[in-house]
Amino acid sequence: MATRQILRMGHPLLRKPAQRVDTDFIGSSEYRHLVGDMVDTLHDYGGIGLAAPQIGESIRLAIIEIPAGPTRYGDLDSMPLTVFINPHIEILDPATTGYWEGCLSIPGLRGYVERPQHIRVSYTDEELRQQEIELRGFFATVFQHEFDHLDGCLYVDRMTDSRNLVFELEYENYHLV
Ligand code: NI
Repeated sequence: MATRQILRMGHPLLRKPAQRVDTDFIGSSEYRHLVGDMVDTLHDYGGIGLAAPQIGESIRLAIIEIPAGPTRYGDLDSMPLTVFINPHIEILDPATTGYWEGCLSIPGLRGYVERPQHIRVSYTDEELRQQEIELRGFFATVFQHEFDHLDGCLYVDRMTDSRNLVFELEYENYHLV
C-alpha cells in the first residue's frame, strides 16, 4: 500500500458529490488496495479521518480513527479504525456546539464550526452488514465533517463567521482555550 497525495481545497473533485459504493466492490482487491492506501495516507498525514474523494476517488467511503490519548484536538475517547461505506446521518437533536475544525485538504488552517451534537449514523461495514451508531459531542462533529466530503462540502461552507478562519499557529496563540 502507499501514501497518496491529498487533494487540497480548490481541486474540483473535492466539490463533486461522490457516487454510492457498489456492494460488489467491497472486499475486491481494488477495494482492499484503496482502503490500504487511505489508512497509510491518514497515518502519514496524522489525521483522524479521511474520505475517499480526498485522495481522488469519488465514492461514498470514509475512514475514521481516533487514537487514545492526547491529539491535536485535545484528550479524547478513542475509536478504532473503522470503514464507513455509504453512510447516512440522521440528526437526533439539532442543538449545536462549535469546535475549531481542521482538514487535511485545507492544511495549516482552523475554522470554528457549529454542528448538531447528537446524531445517528447508518452505514454498510466491510462485511456488508448494515450498522447503526449514535454519536454525541466531538465525535458527532468529526463524522459530519468526514461525510460532508462525500457531498462535496468542506467545513468552510459550514462557517457562519469568516473571522473565525485562522492559521494553526494563531489558533494556538489566541484561540486555544
Ligand atoms: Ni476534512
